[in-house]
Amino acid sequence: MKWEEGLIDSLGWGKDITRREEKEKVAATIAGMVKDGEILGVGSGSTAYLALLKIAERVKEEGLCIQAIPTSLEITMACARLGIPVTGLEGHRPDWTFDGADEIDPYLSLIKGRGGAMFKEKLLISSSPKTFIIADSSKMVSRLGMNFPVPIEIFPQAFTYVEQALKKLSSREINLRMAEGKDGPIITENGNLILDVWFDSIPDTMERDIKQITGVIESGLFMGYKIEILNP
Ligand code: A5P
Repeated sequence: MKWEEGLIDSLGWGKDITRREEKEKVAATIAGMVKDGEILGVGSGSTAYLALLKIAERVKEEGLCIQAIPTSLEITMACARLGIPVTGLEGHRPDWTFDGADEIDPYLSLIKGRGGAMFKEKLLISSSPKTFIIADSSKMVSRLGMNFPVPIEIFPQAFTYVEQALKKLSSREINLRMAEGKDGPIITENGNLILDVWFDSIPDTMERDIKQITGVIESGLFMGYKIEILNP
């Protein structure tokens, strides 16, 4: 049985989408790759959202039967609005995943997590035989950390301990991500806090070094993952 029309039917992205034309081009490429019967890992952020809209058009027009494994609540809600069935990693492995990024360096290392969903994004990318990173031209950088800090999701009570440990990893600046529309810090979908950390340089060992700190749930550094970049 269907719900009567409600808030969910009018939910959009909620903010202006920068470089929308470029993002729509890669979104269309992703939508063109979807095959009937597939289970797709769906990343978060505006680029992944636009790709989901294009996929939904194909589902409607061609009657494709697909399932999505979303990486965030906003993508789960978008799937509900678009009529795309959702499943979970407990029962299914994605055939492939698509996702956006904040920065991509020449070695295909990434910073992700502007939207705070990097833990589930990393879980999906690690679970997928193949992941396509869809990105507009502003995301390509000569070294990671030029335009974005590295987001690190942390267990709330580990806040001070992790901060001290990150200082030893030669971070330049550490900020607690503050919420908009709520007093105090952002609380992630997993009930944790996010530290946004600026580094002057990010060596190959940095993802592992951060992850080894007790209290760190996951970071937005992706180094050495099986990904392919799709640009407009
Ligand atoms: C979400 O947590 C992020 O990892 C996004 O994938 C990343 O911030 C890219 O977002 P846009 O597609 O909105 O630029």
